[in-house]
Amino acid sequence: YSLLSHNTFRLDIKTETFVEYSCTDDLKQILNDKELINGPCLHIGSGSNLLFTSDYKGTILHSQIQDITLIENTDDYILVKVGAGMDWDSFVAYCVSQGWAGAENLSLIPGEVGASAVQNIGAYGVEAKDLIHQVETVEIATGNDRIFTNEECKYSYRQSIFKSDLKNKYIVTYVTYKLSKHPVYNLEYGNIKAELEKYPEVSLATIRQAIIDIRNSKLPDPKVEGNAGSFFMNPIIPRSQFLELQTKYPEIPHYEVSQDLVKVPAAWMIDKCGWKGKTLGHAGVHSQQALVLVNRGNATGEEIINLSREIQKSVKDLFNIEIHPEVNFIS
Ligand code: EPU
Repeated sequence: YSLLSHNTFRLDIKTETFVEYSCTDDLKQILNDKELINGPCLHIGSGSNLLFTSDYKGTILHSQIQDITLIENTDDYILVKVGAGMDWDSFVAYCVSQGWAGAENLSLIPGEVGASAVQNIGAYGVEAKDLIHQVETVEIATGNDRIFTNEECKYSYRQSIFKSDLKNKYIVTYVTYKLSKHPVYNLEYGNIKAELEKYPEVSLATIRQAIIDIRNSKLPDPKVEGNAGSFFMNPIIPRSQFLELQTKYPEIPHYEVSQDLVKVPAAWMIDKCGWKGKTLGHAGVHSQQALVLVNRGNATGEEIINLSREIQKSVKDLFNIEIHPEVNFIS
Protein backbone atom coordinates (compact mmCIF):
# COMPACT_ATOMS: atom_id res chain seq x y z
CA TYR A 1 0.00 0.00 0.00
CA SER A 2 1.56 3.32 -1.06
CA LEU A 3 1.88 6.07 1.54
CA LEU A 4 2.53 8.75 -1.09
CA SER A 5 -0.64 10.63 -0.15
CA HIS A 6 -0.05 10.07 3.59
CA ASN A 7 3.25 11.90 4.01
CA THR A 8 3.69 15.55 3.11
CA PHE A 9 7.34 15.03 2.14
CA ARG A 10 5.74 13.13 -0.76
CA LEU A 11 8.03 10.12 -0.51
CA ASP A 12 6.82 7.08 -2.42
CA ILE A 13 7.00 4.69 0.54
CA LYS A 14 5.02 1.49 1.01
CA THR A 15 3.57 -0.22 4.06
CA GLU A 16 2.52 -3.86 4.31
CA THR A 17 -0.87 -2.98 5.79
CA PHE A 18 -2.85 0.25 6.11
CA VAL A 19 -5.98 0.33 8.27
CA GLU A 20 -8.49 3.10 8.90
CA TYR A 21 -11.34 3.11 11.42
CA SER A 22 -14.14 5.51 12.21
CA CYS A 23 -15.10 4.81 15.83
CA THR A 24 -13.40 3.78 19.06
CA ASP A 25 -15.01 0.32 19.07
CA ASP A 26 -13.62 -0.42 15.60
CA LEU A 27 -10.17 0.66 16.78
CA LYS A 28 -10.40 -1.74 19.74
CA GLN A 29 -11.40 -4.60 17.43
CA ILE A 30 -8.45 -3.85 15.16
CA LEU A 31 -6.03 -3.80 18.10
CA ASN A 32 -7.41 -7.19 19.13
CA ASP A 33 -7.00 -8.71 15.66
CA LYS A 34 -3.75 -10.67 15.86
CA GLU A 35 -3.70 -11.19 12.09
CA LEU A 36 -3.74 -7.46 11.41
CA ILE A 37 -1.47 -6.44 14.27
CA ASN A 38 1.28 -9.04 14.19
CA GLY A 39 4.39 -6.92 13.95
CA PRO A 40 5.43 -3.29 14.20
CA CYS A 41 2.53 -0.89 14.31
CA LEU A 42 2.47 2.86 13.78
CA HIS A 43 -0.40 5.31 14.11
CA ILE A 44 -0.22 8.33 11.83
CA GLY A 45 -2.20 11.52 11.33
CA SER A 46 -1.90 13.27 7.99
CA GLY A 47 1.84 12.53 7.81
CA SER A 48 2.83 16.19 8.04
CA ASN A 49 5.54 15.57 10.61
CA LEU A 50 6.99 12.26 9.40
CA LEU A 51 10.04 11.27 7.43
CA PHE A 52 10.06 7.68 6.19
CA THR A 53 13.57 6.40 5.58
CA SER A 54 12.45 3.07 4.09
CA ASP A 55 9.32 1.04 3.36
CA TYR A 56 7.38 0.21 6.51
CA LYS A 57 7.27 -3.49 7.41
CA GLY A 58 4.19 -3.52 9.56
CA THR A 59 0.75 -2.02 10.01
CA ILE A 60 -0.07 1.65 9.77
CA LEU A 61 -3.23 2.90 11.45
CA HIS A 62 -5.10 6.10 10.66
CA SER A 63 -8.14 7.57 12.41
CA GLN A 64 -11.25 8.60 10.53
CA ILE A 65 -13.03 9.63 13.74
CA GLN A 66 -14.16 13.09 12.77
CA ASP A 67 -17.24 13.95 14.81
CA ILE A 68 -17.46 17.11 16.86
CA THR A 69 -19.68 17.49 19.93
CA LEU A 70 -20.37 20.48 22.15
CA ILE A 71 -19.91 19.18 25.70
CA GLU A 72 -20.47 22.34 27.71
CA ASN A 73 -21.67 25.80 26.76
CA THR A 74 -21.46 28.61 29.32
CA ASP A 75 -21.52 32.40 28.98
CA ASP A 76 -17.73 32.46 29.15
CA TYR A 77 -16.42 29.34 27.45
CA ILE A 78 -17.27 26.16 25.59
CA LEU A 79 -15.90 22.63 25.81
CA VAL A 80 -15.88 20.88 22.46
CA LYS A 81 -14.94 17.23 21.88
CA VAL A 82 -13.37 16.51 18.51
CA GLY A 83 -12.44 13.25 16.76
CA ALA A 84 -8.69 12.70 16.38
CA GLY A 85 -9.03 12.25 12.62
CA MET A 86 -10.52 15.67 11.96
CA ASP A 87 -8.36 18.00 9.88
CA TRP A 88 -6.86 20.54 12.28
CA ASP A 89 -7.42 23.61 10.13
CA SER A 90 -11.06 22.67 9.46
CA PHE A 91 -11.51 22.62 13.23
CA VAL A 92 -9.89 26.06 13.56
CA ALA A 93 -12.13 27.42 10.79
CA TYR A 94 -15.18 26.01 12.60
CA CYS A 95 -14.13 27.64 15.91
CA VAL A 96 -13.69 31.00 14.19
CA SER A 97 -17.09 30.71 12.46
CA GLN A 98 -18.73 29.98 15.84
CA GLY A 99 -16.98 32.92 17.57
CA TRP A 100 -14.96 30.59 19.83
CA ALA A 101 -11.59 32.15 20.55
CA GLY A 102 -8.18 30.61 21.18
CA ALA A 103 -7.31 28.54 18.13
CA GLU A 104 -7.17 31.32 15.51
CA ASN A 105 -3.37 31.80 15.73
CA LEU A 106 -3.00 28.10 14.90
CA SER A 107 -4.69 28.54 11.51
CA LEU A 108 -3.41 26.55 8.55
CA ILE A 109 -1.13 24.25 10.53
CA PRO A 110 -1.17 21.00 8.59
CA GLY A 111 -2.21 17.82 10.38
CA GLU A 112 -5.06 16.39 12.40
CA VAL A 113 -6.64 16.94 15.81
CA GLY A 114 -5.02 13.83 17.33
CA ALA A 115 -1.55 15.06 16.40
CA SER A 116 -2.24 18.47 17.94
CA ALA A 117 -2.44 16.69 21.31
CA VAL A 118 0.57 14.43 20.78
CA GLN A 119 2.87 17.04 19.28
CA ASN A 120 1.63 20.15 21.13
CA ILE A 121 1.59 22.07 17.86
CA GLY A 122 2.27 25.76 18.15
CA ALA A 123 2.60 28.98 16.19
CA TYR A 124 2.45 32.75 16.63
CA GLY A 125 2.56 32.71 20.43
CA VAL A 126 -0.06 29.97 21.00
CA GLU A 127 0.33 26.26 21.66
CA ALA A 128 -2.28 23.48 21.54
CA LYS A 129 -1.70 22.91 25.28
CA ASP A 130 -3.25 26.33 25.97
CA LEU A 131 -6.57 25.01 24.59
CA ILE A 132 -6.58 21.32 25.46
CA HIS A 133 -8.92 20.35 28.30
CA GLN A 134 -8.49 16.56 28.13
CA VAL A 135 -7.36 13.80 25.77
CA GLU A 136 -9.23 10.51 25.30
CA THR A 137 -7.12 7.52 24.35
CA VAL A 138 -7.09 3.75 23.95
CA GLU A 139 -4.16 1.80 25.33
CA ILE A 140 -2.63 -0.28 22.54
CA ALA A 141 -1.61 -3.23 24.74
CA THR A 142 -4.97 -3.68 26.50
CA GLY A 143 -7.61 -1.86 24.45
CA ASN A 144 -8.63 -0.01 27.62
CA ASP A 145 -9.88 3.57 27.59
CA ARG A 146 -7.88 6.20 29.41
CA ILE A 147 -8.51 9.91 29.74
CA PHE A 148 -5.55 12.24 30.28
CA THR A 149 -6.13 15.66 31.83
CA ASN A 150 -4.12 18.51 30.37
CA GLU A 151 -1.72 18.27 33.31
CA GLU A 152 -1.21 14.53 32.85
CA CYS A 153 -0.16 15.15 29.24
CA LYS A 154 2.99 16.89 30.59
CA TYR A 155 3.09 19.47 27.84
CA SER A 156 6.06 21.62 26.97
CA TYR A 157 7.45 23.08 23.74
CA ARG A 158 6.60 20.50 20.99
CA GLN A 159 6.56 17.82 23.67
CA SER A 160 4.05 15.64 25.55
CA ILE A 161 3.86 12.38 27.50
CA PHE A 162 2.70 10.73 24.24
CA LYS A 163 6.08 11.55 22.66
CA SER A 164 8.16 10.69 25.75
CA ASP A 165 7.31 8.30 28.63
CA LEU A 166 4.26 6.82 26.92
CA LYS A 167 5.49 6.92 23.31
CA ASN A 168 3.60 4.43 21.08
CA LYS A 169 1.55 3.16 24.04
CA TYR A 170 -1.73 5.06 23.59
CA ILE A 171 -3.81 6.08 20.58
CA VAL A 172 -5.63 9.39 20.81
CA THR A 173 -9.31 9.03 19.87
CA TYR A 174 -10.79 12.38 20.95
CA VAL A 175 -9.48 15.72 22.15
CA THR A 176 -11.62 18.11 24.18
CA TYR A 177 -10.70 21.78 23.80
CA LYS A 178 -11.75 24.72 25.96
CA LEU A 179 -12.33 27.87 23.93
CA SER A 180 -13.34 31.30 25.11
CA LYS A 181 -16.35 33.40 24.24
CA HIS A 182 -14.44 36.54 25.26
CA PRO A 183 -11.47 36.69 22.92
CA VAL A 184 -8.09 37.83 24.20
CA TYR A 185 -6.21 38.46 20.99
CA ASN A 186 -2.63 37.29 20.87
CA LEU A 187 -0.95 39.67 18.43
CA GLU A 188 2.54 40.10 19.84
CA TYR A 189 4.37 37.55 17.69
CA GLY A 190 6.33 38.65 14.61
CA ASN A 191 4.46 40.75 12.08
CA ILE A 192 0.84 39.86 12.90
CA LYS A 193 -0.03 43.45 13.83
CA ALA A 194 1.44 44.81 10.58
CA GLU A 195 -0.43 42.17 8.59
CA LEU A 196 -3.69 43.13 10.34
CA GLU A 197 -3.41 46.74 9.21
CA LYS A 198 -4.89 45.65 5.86
CA TYR A 199 -8.20 45.00 7.60
CA PRO A 200 -10.75 47.49 8.96
CA GLU A 201 -11.04 45.61 12.27
CA VAL A 202 -9.34 43.02 14.44
CA SER A 203 -11.56 39.96 14.80
CA LEU A 204 -11.16 36.20 14.96
CA ALA A 205 -11.77 36.06 11.21
CA THR A 206 -9.24 38.74 10.28
CA ILE A 207 -6.60 37.26 12.59
CA ARG A 208 -7.16 33.89 10.94
CA GLN A 209 -6.79 35.46 7.49
CA ALA A 210 -3.65 37.37 8.53
CA ILE A 211 -2.04 34.17 9.85
CA ILE A 212 -2.98 32.30 6.68
CA ASP A 213 -1.40 35.04 4.56
CA ILE A 214 1.80 35.08 6.64
CA ARG A 215 2.14 31.29 6.47
CA ASN A 216 1.43 31.18 2.74
CA SER A 217 4.11 33.78 2.10
CA LYS A 218 6.82 31.82 3.98
CA LEU A 219 5.97 28.15 4.02
CA PRO A 220 6.05 26.00 0.89
CA ASP A 221 2.83 24.25 -0.17
CA PRO A 222 3.49 20.50 0.29
CA LYS A 223 1.42 19.81 -2.82
CA VAL A 224 3.96 21.78 -4.85
CA GLU A 225 7.16 20.96 -2.97
CA GLY A 226 7.07 18.13 -0.41
CA ASN A 227 7.96 19.24 3.13
CA ALA A 228 7.02 18.76 6.78
CA GLY A 229 7.04 22.35 8.03
CA SER A 230 9.80 23.14 10.50
CA PHE A 231 12.33 20.35 10.26
CA PHE A 232 14.14 21.22 13.52
CA MET A 233 12.97 22.43 16.90
CA ASN A 234 14.19 25.80 18.11
CA PRO A 235 16.92 25.07 20.66
CA ILE A 236 16.57 26.29 24.24
CA ILE A 237 19.94 27.33 25.60
CA PRO A 238 21.39 28.65 28.89
CA ARG A 239 21.16 32.42 29.19
CA SER A 240 24.93 32.65 29.74
CA GLN A 241 25.55 31.03 26.36
CA PHE A 242 22.97 33.29 24.77
CA LEU A 243 24.57 36.45 26.17
CA GLU A 244 27.91 35.36 24.78
CA LEU A 245 26.34 34.84 21.34
CA GLN A 246 24.63 38.20 21.58
CA THR A 247 27.93 40.02 21.96
CA LYS A 248 29.06 38.47 18.68
CA TYR A 249 25.68 38.74 16.92
CA PRO A 250 23.79 41.70 18.46
CA GLU A 251 20.89 41.15 16.04
CA ILE A 252 20.22 37.53 17.13
CA PRO A 253 16.44 37.01 17.52
CA HIS A 254 15.29 35.18 20.65
CA TYR A 255 12.34 34.31 22.90
CA GLU A 256 12.36 34.36 26.69
CA VAL A 257 11.73 30.94 28.25
CA SER A 258 12.69 31.43 31.91
CA GLN A 259 15.20 33.28 34.03
CA ASP A 260 17.93 30.83 32.99
CA LEU A 261 16.82 29.81 29.52
CA VAL A 262 16.40 31.47 26.12
CA LYS A 263 14.99 30.00 22.89
CA VAL A 264 16.86 30.85 19.69
CA PRO A 265 15.31 30.40 16.23
CA ALA A 266 17.07 27.56 14.43
CA ALA A 267 15.98 29.20 11.16
CA TRP A 268 18.12 32.24 11.89
CA MET A 269 21.21 30.10 12.59
CA ILE A 270 20.70 27.89 9.53
CA ASP A 271 20.25 31.05 7.47
CA LYS A 272 23.47 32.51 8.95
CA CYS A 273 25.28 29.32 7.95
CA GLY A 274 24.31 30.09 4.37
CA TRP A 275 21.97 27.14 3.79
CA LYS A 276 18.87 29.06 2.73
CA GLY A 277 17.82 28.08 -0.81
CA LYS A 278 20.62 25.47 -1.14
CA THR A 279 20.15 21.99 -2.62
CA LEU A 280 21.96 18.75 -1.81
CA GLY A 281 21.01 15.79 -3.97
CA HIS A 282 17.25 16.04 -4.41
CA ALA A 283 16.70 17.68 -1.03
CA GLY A 284 16.84 21.39 -0.34
CA VAL A 285 16.39 24.25 2.11
CA HIS A 286 13.36 26.43 1.40
CA SER A 287 14.28 29.87 0.08
CA GLN A 288 11.76 31.77 2.27
CA GLN A 289 12.22 29.86 5.55
CA ALA A 290 15.51 28.15 6.37
CA LEU A 291 13.89 25.85 8.95
CA VAL A 292 11.95 24.02 6.25
CA LEU A 293 13.61 21.22 4.28
CA VAL A 294 11.96 20.37 0.98
CA ASN A 295 11.81 17.52 -1.49
CA ARG A 296 12.99 19.12 -4.74
CA GLY A 297 11.45 16.14 -6.58
CA ASN A 298 12.17 12.41 -6.24
CA ALA A 299 14.20 12.86 -3.07
CA THR A 300 14.68 9.82 -0.84
CA GLY A 301 14.32 9.90 2.92
CA GLU A 302 18.06 9.27 3.14
CA GLU A 303 18.83 12.37 1.05
CA ILE A 304 16.70 14.52 3.33
CA ILE A 305 18.39 13.08 6.43
CA ASN A 306 21.79 13.60 4.85
CA LEU A 307 21.00 17.28 4.26
CA SER A 308 19.70 17.62 7.82
CA ARG A 309 22.95 16.14 9.22
CA GLU A 310 25.05 18.60 7.19
CA ILE A 311 22.94 21.46 8.54
CA GLN A 312 23.28 20.22 12.13
CA LYS A 313 27.06 20.08 11.63
CA SER A 314 27.24 23.66 10.30
CA VAL A 315 25.16 25.04 13.17
CA LYS A 316 27.26 23.17 15.72
CA ASP A 317 30.49 24.44 14.13
CA LEU A 318 29.42 28.09 13.92
CA PHE A 319 27.32 28.49 17.10
CA ASN A 320 28.26 25.47 19.23
CA ILE A 321 24.57 24.66 19.51
CA GLU A 322 22.97 21.30 18.77
CA ILE A 323 19.68 21.41 16.92
CA HIS A 324 17.35 18.43 16.93
CA PRO A 325 14.74 17.36 14.38
CA GLU A 326 11.12 18.07 15.14
CA VAL A 327 10.15 15.67 12.37
CA ASN A 328 9.85 12.00 13.37
CA PHE A 329 12.09 9.60 11.45
CA ILE A 330 10.37 6.28 10.68
CA SER A 331 12.22 3.26 9.32
N1 EPU B 1 14.51 33.76 10.35
C1 EPU B 1 15.70 33.92 9.63
N2 EPU B 1 15.82 33.25 8.45
C2 EPU B 1 14.83 32.46 7.94
C3 EPU B 1 13.63 32.32 8.65
C4 EPU B 1 13.50 32.99 9.87
O1 EPU B 1 16.60 34.61 10.07
O2 EPU B 1 15.02 31.87 6.88
C5 EPU B 1 14.35 34.48 11.62
C6 EPU B 1 13.14 35.41 11.54
O3 EPU B 1 13.53 36.68 11.12
C7 EPU B 1 12.64 35.43 12.96
C8 EPU B 1 13.03 34.08 13.51
O4 EPU B 1 14.01 33.54 12.63
O5 EPU B 1 13.29 36.40 13.72
C9 EPU B 1 11.84 33.14 13.67
O6 EPU B 1 11.24 32.88 12.42
P1 EPU B 1 9.69 32.51 12.29
O7 EPU B 1 8.86 33.55 12.93
O8 EPU B 1 9.42 32.20 10.87
O9 EPU B 1 9.48 31.22 13.21
P2 EPU B 1 10.35 29.92 13.51
O10 EPU B 1 10.89 30.04 14.90
O11 EPU B 1 11.32 29.65 12.43
C10 EPU B 1 8.37 28.68 14.65
C11 EPU B 1 7.67 27.36 14.54
C12 EPU B 1 6.75 27.35 13.32
C13 EPU B 1 5.73 28.46 13.49
C14 EPU B 1 6.48 29.79 13.63
C15 EPU B 1 5.54 30.93 13.93
C16 EPU B 1 9.15 25.71 15.53
C17 EPU B 1 10.06 24.55 15.31
N3 EPU B 1 8.64 26.28 14.44
O12 EPU B 1 9.22 28.80 13.51
O13 EPU B 1 6.08 26.11 13.29
O14 EPU B 1 4.85 28.52 12.38
O15 EPU B 1 7.41 29.71 14.74
O16 EPU B 1 5.10 30.82 15.24
O17 EPU B 1 8.92 26.10 16.69
C18 EPU B 1 6.18 23.90 12.39
O18 EPU B 1 6.30 23.50 13.55
O19 EPU B 1 6.16 23.10 11.41
C19 EPU B 1 6.10 25.33 12.14
C20 EPU B 1 6.05 25.83 10.91
